[in-house]
Amino acid sequence: MSTKDELLECLKEGKGTWLSGEALGHRLSISRTAIWKQISALKKEGYLIESSRKKGHMLNGVPDCLFESEIREGLGTCVFGKKNILHFIQAESTNMTAETLANQGAAEGTVVVAEHQTKGRGRLGRTWFSPGGEGIYVSVILRPSIPPNDAPKLTLMASVAVAEAIRTCAPVEASIKWPNDIMIGGRKVAGILTEMSTDMDRIHYVIIGMGININNPSENFPYEIREIATSLFSETGKIFSRAEILRKCLESLERYYETFKEKGFLPIMKRWEELTEMMGATIRVDAIGNTYSGTFKGINEDGFLVMRDSYGGVKRIISGDVSIVNR
Ligand code: BTN
Repeated sequence: MSTKDELLECLKEGKGTWLSGEALGHRLSISRTAIWKQISALKKEGYLIESSRKKGHMLNGVPDCLFESEIREGLGTCVFGKKNILHFIQAESTNMTAETLANQGAAEGTVVVAEHQTKGRGRLGRTWFSPGGEGIYVSVILRPSIPPNDAPKLTLMASVAVAEAIRTCAPVEASIKWPNDIMIGGRKVAGILTEMSTDMDRIHYVIIGMGININNPSENFPYEIREIATSLFSETGKIFSRAEILRKCLESLERYYETFKEKGFLPIMKRWEELTEMMGATIRVDAIGNTYSGTFKGINEDGFLVMRDSYGGVKRIISGDVSIVNR
């Protein structure tokens, strides 16, 4: 742990009380001048710290930032985010950064998070709206020992994990639209982009990239997505702690990843079907060059979308864009 993080831990323990520079210096085995230097750095990061030559320092508030120390505090995982959390004020895309790190050998469970993305990537070559400080933009590196064909199951697993984390943190009925859009009342609140590096029979790594709209006021969404996007703030009128939701996402993702490794895809498939609102809906699927219409029947044991067309034929689709025509 860095000196700054140790100091922060001391300040948090004594939040709202004065801690003398001398006592802090003694505890961290550094000089009072060094304490002042670290206190200034914390103030620059947005921590509300009162300082007095006579009384010392008092922490009055923490910023709503996804600093490593804020994510780690109370993080109930065993692997995800336990070793490496990399926080950036700005990144082009956390998936891109995670990809670079994974190519350099970063361990499973490495977490890359940014306050703002300049080239946030979405599915099917789209962009992901990623304004500073309003949402969560995070990528997790996985190194599963599964064949490349099984990778779509991890995307569905992530959508279950994120939908559950959102439901735990906010009074909203988050549901899943195939394959991995998280919806509230027909509008998208979160999306997942899974990218991977493989050879013919082996996965080198998988990056699970999650984007969640948290405190965005609806008028801040660009005009083109204002009618189809939502945020937890728009739904509830409340401001949420992004660090807390991120922690819940990592915990939930790790739990489902363990389930997947131990028990396979079946329990995840069942939970996915409980969390989707698509069952029985009439849907249209745009799948690389073809459009299909029919009734949504669920997902199969490979993670494919299963639908029945108007002639009674059953179609299985691996990738595409779904529109719900009516429920
Ligand atoms: C979608 O199109 O629904 C997927 C959106 C995924 C966005 C997240 S934000 C964090 C990570 N980094 C990216 O560039 N994209 C994903």
